[in-house]
Amino acid sequence: MQDELEIFKKAQDEKNNYWWTVEFSTALSQNDRSTKEELMSTVAAISNSIGSEITVEHNDLGEYRLFLKAHYNSSIGIDELAAELEYFLKDPAFKGIEISRCYKTSNQPWETQHYDAFPPLPVGKNLVVMAPWHEKEKAYPERTPIYIYPATAFGTGYHESTRIALTLLEEAVKAGDVILDVGTGTGILFIAALKLGADKAIARDIDPTTIEEAKRNMNLNGINPKVCTLSVADLLKGFRDQVNILTANILLNPNLAMLPDVRRALKPKGCAIFSGMTNVESYTFISVLESSGMTIEKEMKFGDWWGCRAVKAWG
Ligand SMILES: C[S@@+](CC[C@H](N)C(=O)[O-])C[C@H]1O[C@@H](n2cnc3c(N)ncnc32)[C@H](O)[C@@H]1O
Repeated sequence: MQDELEIFKKAQDEKNNYWWTVEFSTALSQNDRSTKEELMSTVAAISNSIGSEITVEHNDLGEYRLFLKAHYNSSIGIDELAAELEYFLKDPAFKGIEISRCYKTSNQPWETQHYDAFPPLPVGKNLVVMAPWHEKEKAYPERTPIYIYPATAFGTGYHESTRIALTLLEEAVKAGDVILDVGTGTGILFIAALKLGADKAIARDIDPTTIEEAKRNMNLNGINPKVCTLSVADLLKGFRDQVNILTANILLNPNLAMLPDVRRALKPKGCAIFSGMTNVESYTFISVLESSGMTIEKEMKFGDWWGCRAVKAWG
């Protein structure tokens, strides 16, 4: 009886102590990195991965491949899991994505890793972004802290596109400003603006799950909820007000789609901060921006990523 109990416990331990790791890969061309990264993130999310990471590798011929390493609970056999994933990749949306490897991974202290992750990150001249549990470290006491709980929404501050947007925002925000944050995610940009002196924020995201996360982060930063309006909305649809600063760290296509409405949404001396585009994509964006009555005040690059601050070209 005792032995059987031990065997049972061991089996339970074994079950909880490993999971399956599946590596997916796809070829990258010069200007499709962000689209393919989003596609890989979708693969991880809808195949119920319990954790994932995306990397890029290249060979001596200069050919680039994007890899997704996704972890799955070991509740079913690896062959069964691989067959399910192969079937799922037959969807035309995932054309070009293939499974490169499947293997068993020992359990790692994800909880601890999660808590050790996101150390204080100085951004721009005066900001430091950090997870709330790093507060006690009093790192960078001279900087304004932005506390972000790393959950599922995009915008921990660690992505280059967010850092570009934060840096351009920090330079522009003035006491009393009203900010409109399109694609708010964690709320990091409008929270930074309010902590830097803005009076009021309007934040929108097409993904309803981001709203609660943004509220949680507002709370962590001691922001008065009365000065923020958060809503689920598509780009600038239905927005009739005018603001001092508009921020949009979204991808190229939503940024382009929004451009015809941006001028109208800005007060006379207002500015718009766009990020979330690659260096290659910036050429397309700049030409459409200029034909929509806006002009670039400042551009910024960070790795492969590009962003800018733009103002009205006239009047
Ligand atoms: C790259 S994240 C940026 C998050 C955060 N603002 C930051 O700077 O880190 C882009 C966000 O835009 C949202 N989004 C994508 N398409 C959108 C649309 N058409 N309208 C509003 N939000 C959108 C996504 O749900 C996501 O939260």
